[in-house]
Amino acid sequence: MSDAENGTNGGRPPLRSRAWFDNPANPDMTALYVERYLNFGISLEEIQSGRPIIGIAQTGSDLSPCNRHHLELAKRVREGIRDAGGIALEFGTHPIQETGKRPTAGLDRNLQYLSLVESVYGYPMDGVVFTIGCDKTTPAALMAAATVNIPSIALSVGPMLNGWFKGERTGSGTIVWKAREMLAAGEIDYKGFMELVASSAPSTGWCNTMGTATTMNSLCEALGMSLPGSAAIPAPYRDRQENAYRTGLAIVEMVHADRKPSDVLTRTAFMNAIRVNSAIGGSTNAPIHLNAIARHMGVELNLSDWEDHGAEIPLIVNLQPAGEYLGEDYYRAGGVPAVMGQLFRAGLIDGSALTVNGKTVEENVGTVEVEDPKVIWPLDAPMKAHAGLSVLSGNLFDNAVMKLSVISDEFRERYLSDPADPEAFTGKVVVFDGPEDYHHRIDDPSLGIDERSILIMRGAGPVGYPGGAEVVNMRPPAALIQAGIHALPCLGDGRQSGTSGSPSILNAAPEAAVGGTLALVRTGDRVRIDLGTRKVDLLVDEAELAERRAALAVDYVPESQTPWQEIHRSLVGQFDTGAVLENAVKYQRIAQTKGIPRDSH
Ligand code: FES
Ligand code: MG
Repeated sequence: MSDAENGTNGGRPPLRSRAWFDNPANPDMTALYVERYLNFGISLEEIQSGRPIIGIAQTGSDLSPCNRHHLELAKRVREGIRDAGGIALEFGTHPIQETGKRPTAGLDRNLQYLSLVESVYGYPMDGVVFTIGCDKTTPAALMAAATVNIPSIALSVGPMLNGWFKGERTGSGTIVWKAREMLAAGEIDYKGFMELVASSAPSTGWCNTMGTATTMNSLCEALGMSLPGSAAIPAPYRDRQENAYRTGLAIVEMVHADRKPSDVLTRTAFMNAIRVNSAIGGSTNAPIHLNAIARHMGVELNLSDWEDHGAEIPLIVNLQPAGEYLGEDYYRAGGVPAVMGQLFRAGLIDGSALTVNGKTVEENVGTVEVEDPKVIWPLDAPMKAHAGLSVLSGNLFDNAVMKLSVISDEFRERYLSDPADPEAFTGKVVVFDGPEDYHHRIDDPSLGIDERSILIMRGAGPVGYPGGAEVVNMRPPAALIQAGIHALPCLGDGRQSGTSGSPSILNAAPEAAVGGTLALVRTGDRVRIDLGTRKVDLLVDEAELAERRAALAVDYVPESQTPWQEIHRSLVGQFDTGAVLENAVKYQRIAQTKGIPRDSH
């Protein structure tokens, strides 16, 4: 008897798809399940052959241009699955596109997570290829992989080719922040602004800067959830097609080996990823997403781990916004393996962590060298020492993060140069209630914004601006830009785009909408920011704050516009704990702990 006939899988757990397609104990239901999957031409012999059924979670669509190339790549994934002896079933997922989705793509991360869990758990799949790319698609996939815990591998779509304008590299997002300053200063007109920004998107793929997409795809590889060397391959390259094919081969092998996310997503893997995030100059969105994945995997991970394990790691990847280069350069320089190879040989990451291909980090990257030291610098002569994230706290919030790698010399000089107190400065705040308020008033001279002002954005967190808006990086008033001031300290309960080089204090929790002290700040108050002690304090006494709280009339939770906004608001946690749906966290490894769902008829 074959494995399929005797219901075994060579001594390994039986394939879960057999419960749908070949269950001798329940022929009625087997017939019902099988017949409909035959209707597009799969034969009965194939579907009952005992081959692994592999889902391909398709995130590409016209609504998701960053991931759209997956529509092509999936064909090569299918070929890999078939050549390895599996059967592919591709399915669509809820679209997420970072810049196109209003009010936020962050709102959709948890929705895509939920839909992926339902799809992967509720349909006949023995393994799954998650297609990832644009910012939130990677965490949504890894969160779902963790919750369901069947063999899972991620396939990145890859970055766009480098953007160019008049002989200079123009990077996604980063050029927008620069171009809006130029527009505000009258250096370019509207048409010039559009041309400059469009030049940064020359091909299919995700943002070619070290924004949240390159960050999260790099960290997915660092975690061991995608094939080594895969994250940085530009989307249009032939290597990307080949990588799609190899991913298809790999997932079938993973099913036979019963290698699951729980074998890969260990605390060791997360520690490695935190260190890689510092070395690449990764996005401030990384802690939100990695903490979310860890919570769904049941792995202990706190915001303090980012400071404790990542702050001392140097920046070595010279990509915009912290540096000069873009995605194609990153790939040619060796990508994630070249970064991890250096970190491993310096004893900064743990080589014993297992990855999807069944090999350890050491086996995958232990001897990989950098191909271009202008793009990936040597660890012993880095671009910046201590480049990780700093975790700040104080009376204004319990937690917020700041990316140390983007603090410019100009910024340091202006704010952190008092010899008596070199790591701290105090400024008068100007408070904005949401991005509309900011856009409306930023150039209003009556606000009196000067080079020592601190700009505060509130009402932009996971509850207040459902999902959390990337609006904390605010440009200074045009008059200040014309005077040569390119960045003011910004602080808020929202996020900042990973493509922004602004030295902002972000993701402050608790947000104003859930009663955080940020709700009580008034324009003209003074705030002290001490990067030495990691303290941010509102210099207003307790009694005054209590009075303000009692008199607080503003509701920072606007009316929900869709059912999901309302549901999300009622269930979501704060940024410091991953902004997950809190009641989803108890569902862990459900393929093992909950078994197979009941029959549908
Ligand atoms: Fe989709 Fe940047 S907007 S990757
Ligand atoms: Mg973004």
